[in-house]
Formats: sequence, structure tokens, C-alpha cells
Amino acid sequence: MNCLSFIRWLTTAAALVAAGHASADSTGKWQSSQEIYDKVCGYCHEANVGPVITGRNLMPEYIQAIVRNGNRAMPAFRESEINDAALAGVVKLVSSSPAAAAKK
Ligand code: HEC
Repeated sequence: MNCLSFIRWLTTAAALVAAGHASADSTGKWQSSQEIYDKVCGYCHEANVGPVITGRNLMPEYIQAIVRNGNRAMPAFRESEINDAALAGVVKLVSSSPAAAAKK
């Protein structure tokens, strides 16, 4: 690696670290719970990869535990991916969703 590309690499690394810090104390990169559901959960759960989770009155504690710990084919999501505030919003959205929301 020459000197210039090393400096470019350093700048990129510093920018990434700064971006990570900026999102640590809010819902971060996500605009809303609906966005997380649509872009993350819906990627599998609205596509028959995972079971339908909306409109089933699933317990909030259960949804949260599955998201944080994973379960067989369901991946676990860490605090750095979906922080606690953002997760609370998604859990509320999923657990209180009406049955009709499952049918897109
Ligand atoms: C990569 C695909 C994938 C993504 C992304 C995903 N899930 Fe899942 N999820 C699954 C699969 C597959 C299962 C079924 C696991 C099993 O039982 O083997 C599952 C199971 C679940 C269950 C248990 C459902 C039941 O019938 O008991 C809940 C709750 C759940 N997921 C919530 C979520 C939430 C909330 C998100 C978004 C933060 C999410 N999942 C993102 C694949 C995914």
C-alpha cells in the first residue's frame, strides 16, 4: 500500500467509526419501526422465508428474545444492528399489528 492510499484508508476508517458513534444513542440509522420491519424483518417474514409474525398477538417479550438470540434459521440481531430503542418500536409494531397487515 502506498502512502496516499494508506491516508485514504485511514480517512474512510475514521469516518466509519464516527458514523457508528453518531447512531449509538438514538434509533440510529433507522427512520422508523415500520422501516425496520419492512427492510429487515419483512425481508424474510413477508417472503415466506420465515413464518408470518404480524396479526398473531405474539408476546412482546417473546419477539424481543427471538430477535436478540435468534432461533434456528432466524438470525440474532445485536444492539449495533438494531439498538434497544429501535427494537422496542419494532416489537410494539409486530405484537400489536392487526391481522390484515400480514396480507400484502
Ligand atoms: C434472514 C431471515 C430473517 C430475518 C431477517 C428475520 N427473521 Fe424472524 N425468523 C426467520 C425464520 C426462518 C424463523 C423461523 C425459525 C424456526 O423456527 O426455525 C423466524 C422466526 C421468528 C419469530 C418466531 C415466530 C413464531 O412463529 O414463533 C419471531 C417472533 C421473529 N422471527 C421475529 C423477527 C423480527 C422482529 C425480525 C426483524 C427484526 C426478524 N424476525 C427478522 C427468519 C428471519
